[in-house]
Formats: sequence, structure tokens, C-alpha cells
Amino acid sequence: MSGFAELGLSSWLVEQCRQLGLKQPTPVQLGCIPAILEGRDCLGCAKTGSGKTAAFVLPILQKLSEDPYGIFCLVLTPTRELAYQIAEQFRVLGKPLGLKDCIIVGGMDMVAQGLELSRKPHVVISTPGRLADHLRSSNTFNMKKIRFLVMDEADRLLEQGCTDFTTDLETILAAVPSRRQTLLFSATLTDTLKELQGLATNQPFFWEAEAPVCTVEQLDQRYLLVPEKVKDAYLVHLVQSFQDQHEDWSIIIFTNTCKTCQILCMMLRKFNFPTVALHSMMKQKERFAALAKFKSSIYRILIATDVASRGLDIPTVQVVINHNTPGLPKIYIHRVGRTARAGRQGRAITLVTQYDIHLVHAIEEQIKKQLEELSVEEAEVLQILTQVNVVRRECEIKLEAAHFDEKKEINKRKQLILEGKDPDLEAKRKAELAKIKQKNRRFKKKVEQTLKRQKAGSASRGHRPPRPRSQELRAEASDSRCQQPHTDS
Ligand SMILES: Nc1ncnc2c1ncn2[C@@H]1O[C@H](COP(=O)(O)OP(=O)(O)OP(=O)(O)O)[C@@H](O)[C@H]1O
Ligand SMILES: [Mg+2]
Repeated sequence: MSGFAELGLSSWLVEQCRQLGLKQPTPVQLGCIPAILEGRDCLGCAKTGSGKTAAFVLPILQKLSEDPYGIFCLVLTPTRELAYQIAEQFRVLGKPLGLKDCIIVGGMDMVAQGLELSRKPHVVISTPGRLADHLRSSNTFNMKKIRFLVMDEADRLLEQGCTDFTTDLETILAAVPSRRQTLLFSATLTDTLKELQGLATNQPFFWEAEAPVCTVEQLDQRYLLVPEKVKDAYLVHLVQSFQDQHEDWSIIIFTNTCKTCQILCMMLRKFNFPTVALHSMMKQKERFAALAKFKSSIYRILIATDVASRGLDIPTVQVVINHNTPGLPKIYIHRVGRTARAGRQGRAITLVTQYDIHLVHAIEEQIKKQLEELSVEEAEVLQILTQVNVVRRECEIKLEAAHFDEKKEINKRKQLILEGKDPDLEAKRKAELAKIKQKNRRFKKKVEQTLKRQKAGSASRGHRPPRPRSQELRAEASDSRCQQPHTDS
């Protein structure tokens, strides 16, 4: 098997890898490092936890050591915590070089960042929003000579999700030279491949792992079909059982909103589970502190929104629990990828209500694997049901008293004003969009019902199609006694 030395890296870098415990290159590193060293653009698509970071950090450090200057490389990532993690990799691997790095993310002092940028660091690691702010407002630095532009989680940077990076990326791309090497990495590149190919035009090298399943083999993937209103009791039961069965344990729970994240954190703490929260309504310093406490196992549970779903590498995580079924398969892939990293074992449990079954099918279709049902002691859940519901309600009341929703509204308005938008106009636009979406949903439902009727007709004529798993799950769901509508808690 080929080692790092055979990939064209200098002996000091090979020694750094050895000291960090990276003995043999992973497949994505074997594929991408030589191509990057040859001067080609690179698109690397490999499973979560497969070592994509070192696949770009190592060749960049190699090239930097041959011709050191600042600013040599710009790395963009969608989240602040990930920017710090990547900077750490550059720092430890590039220590013998005396590498100067600089992290430019929102929520931190802009003046201090400006000063650091003007000192020409070798590598800048940044989230797009804050870097674009600096580029628009300052002339004390420039990016005209950068040799490498890296986009980690490139598909997220390009898609228009809840945070839209498009205008900031335009500002950044206008500030970097067109003669550069562009390196794009993610575990889910394929649906944004066209846009990405437009960015990486210099003899692009595309590396994708050939694998029948998109998630890692060591990951045990389960679902738990639960009625909406008893979901939290199941969550408490799952955490309690895991705590009882393991001495050394660590869990990430993903939620769909900041508010749910905050309420569940308060609730789990009331049950004496060592829990910290991570979501975008927290101050940046609190976010870093929460993550540090979780990483050092002072707190065993991290409850987070999707701000923690991409890139974060916390080797101790054994279980990921999806409190809500992710609306998009690729969100699922990244969330569950926070465990079972670098060849370790891990487990993912997704709570599925009777309203989410179609989402599970979309996930299974994309990952090309069926989730297995998790069995739990229902009697034990029933025992704690009332207590959990009462505690949750108490937490909701407490949060309402702390004006959580108002703070969120104020933050949103502030953000829109900063982006140069009119908050009232935006609200109108959103309402109109919601109306259109609702109309589309109604139309889709009608089509589905018609198709169902047609299918039922053909079945009654003796022409019976095999029963797909979706129907099995639906049948199970209709057995569940609770018919509570799906509300965002
Ligand atoms: N060659 C190697 N040998 C052993 N461990 C490695 C090697 N390369 C990387 N690792 C380790 O694997 C873990 C995961 O690496 P990394 O965070 O780069 O994964 P990734 O592919 O970027 O995942 P994600 O898609 O979630 O961002 C890290 O702890 C890293 O130190
Ligand atoms: Mg990564």
C-alpha cells in the first residue's frame, strides 16, 4: 500500500502525518493529493469522516513550503466552528513551517480580524459573510495573489438554503485571481456538480468513491416510528438507556429549529443529563464554549441544529439522534456522518412520526440502504410520558418568559438590514412564497390521491402490485393511536 511519501510530499510533512497518527493515506487522499500537487483543480466527493480535510491541507502545505508568501490560500466553509477546526488542522500539520493562519468568521471582533488580515497570513480560513464584509469595507489587504481557493462543504456554500451565500461568494470570487487552483470538497457534491464545474476549470480532477451506499459501512442506521406527541418521552428513554448501558458515552441530538433545540436542552438538563446546546441564536462565545465542553466530554450530550451537521470531527460521538426526520436526504447524510468516522463504529437513530414517512423513503432512496427499525420497551416510555410532557411544558413557559421568539425576530431584522434588505418587504415576499408552496403541496396531494385510486382500481381487477415498504410503514403509522397534527415545537 502506498504511503504519504509516495504521494510526492516532503519528508517533514510525512513525519507530521506520522506524529498525528495518519499512517496510510485514505482513498480520497490517495486520489486527490497527487492531482493537486500537479497543479490541477480538484473536486473531491467522499463519505463523511474519510479524511477530506487532509486531502487538501497536505498538498497546500507542500506547495506553501516551496514558495511561502501571504496570502497564499483561502479556505471557505459554511460554519464558524468548522472554520476553527480546519484552521487547527493547518496549524498542527504546518507547525514546522511556522505557518501563520487567520480565521475570519462572524460573531467575532472585526477590527482585530482586519489587523490580522493586514499582516498577510499564509492561510485565511473563513465563512463567506464576514470575509465579504472585510473585502467591501477595507483596503488594508487583498487576495489578488492567492494560489489556492478551497471550498469545504462546497455544495452547501453554493446552495440557497436557510443561509444564502450567493452575494458574498460573488464578492469573494471577484477579489481572487482567475489563475488559481480551486479545490472543492464535500460528501455530497453531485447535485451541485454543474455549478461546481463552472468554478473549477483548470484541468479539473474529479474524485468520487465508488460505493453502493452513500453512508459508511460501520454506521448502524435505525428508525423509530413514534407518534408526534410522545416523541420527547422516546428521546428521554433513548438517552437514559444509552447512559445506563455505557460508561463512556457521547451523543449528538439534531433538531430542526433553534427554539426546539433550546427547549430540549433545558428539558434534558431537568432530567439531569449533562447537555449543552449549539444553535445560531447563541452568542458566538457561548457556541465555542458549548462545543469545547462537549469535545472534552465534560458534557455528554450536544443538542444542535444543522449548524453542527457538517464537517465537525468529534471522534467520541457514538450516537446521532435525529429528533426530527431531516427534510432532505443530504442533510441526513451529513448529520449521521458526525459518528462512525475514520473507521469507527457508530449508530444513528431517526425519530419518525406518522407525518414523516415519505421523508424516510427519500433518504433510503438516496443513500441506497434501508433503515432498520429500532425496538424499544414501550412500557418504560409510557411510565415517563406524563412527567416528560409536564417538564417540556415548564421549559416552554420559561423560554417564552425569556422572550426567545422576540429576540429571534430582532436578530432576523438586524441581519436583513445588514444585508441591505427591507425587513417588511422581505416578510411580504416570504408570505407570498409560502402561499405558492401551500398551493403546490395541495396540488401534489391531489395527484397522489388520484394515483392511489388508480392503483387500487388495478389491484381490485386482480392485478396486484407488490406492496412497497412505504405502504408497510404507512400501515404501521396509521396503527399509532395519536393523530396530533405535526407542529413545529
Ligand atoms: N490517513 C488517515 N489515517 C487515519 N486517520 C485519518 C487519516 N486522514 C484523516 N484521518 C482522520 O479522520 C477523521 C476525519 O477526517 P475529516 O474530518 O477530514 O473527514 P471528512 O472527510 O472531511 O468528513 P466530513 O465529510 O464529515 O467533513 C479525522 O479525525 C482525521 O484526523
Ligand atoms: Mg470535512
